[in-house]
Amino acid sequence: MKLVLASQNKKKLVEMNDILSGLGIEVCSQAEAGVNLEPEETGTTFEENSLIKARAVMEASGLPAIADDSGLCVDALKGAPGVYSARYGGDGLDDVARYRLLLENMQGQMPRTAKFVSVITCCFPNGDVITARGECPGTIAFAAMGEGGFGYDPVFFVPSLKKTFAQLTPEEKNAISHRGKALKIFQEKLEVYLRSK
Ligand code: IMP
Repeated sequence: MKLVLASQNKKKLVEMNDILSGLGIEVCSQAEAGVNLEPEETGTTFEENSLIKARAVMEASGLPAIADDSGLCVDALKGAPGVYSARYGGDGLDDVARYRLLLENMQGQMPRTAKFVSVITCCFPNGDVITARGECPGTIAFAAMGEGGFGYDPVFFVPSLKKTFAQLTPEEKNAISHRGKALKIFQEKLEVYLRSK
């Protein structure tokens, strides 16, 4: 089965394929499906934005489309950056500038607890929708550590492993991450859905 990923993020594509390939599912990029589209994320929840993206790409491609809307919610910042994680600090910033801004905004703040959230939505051309949510708790490190991953990974510290997400191998990250958990729940729901067809 082939799903189109409603995202331009190549690292998300790799993570999705790593996790779903065991199920015989191939996740292809929007470019491979001939879809050039970046739907505006006008929702105020991960659920809303995930649905907006999956539905737009399903309608444009005519194929089942899967979207992940994810972000980092920091307790001391009242849940920010949350659904605005990719846009934190405005358009001009890259990943490094964004996590540096977060470290700056966390100076003197307590507690440093946070969570990553991922909501996966799959929209089928017949109107069916599958949704799954995963969360991963952690804390905001005092300085960036590690070279792996993307986004806020270098500043997201997992106390039980004493490492940031950027210091984990892809397998270690997938085993505990918000996206890994959401994809596992998604996988289970998809199996039930496909059996019912
Ligand atoms: P989205 O592509 O609109 O869902 O934006 C999600 C944003 O949240 C990304 O641009 C990253 O900044 C952040 N993010 C989501 N998942 C991760 C992750 O696994 N590691 C690091 N940052 C993440």
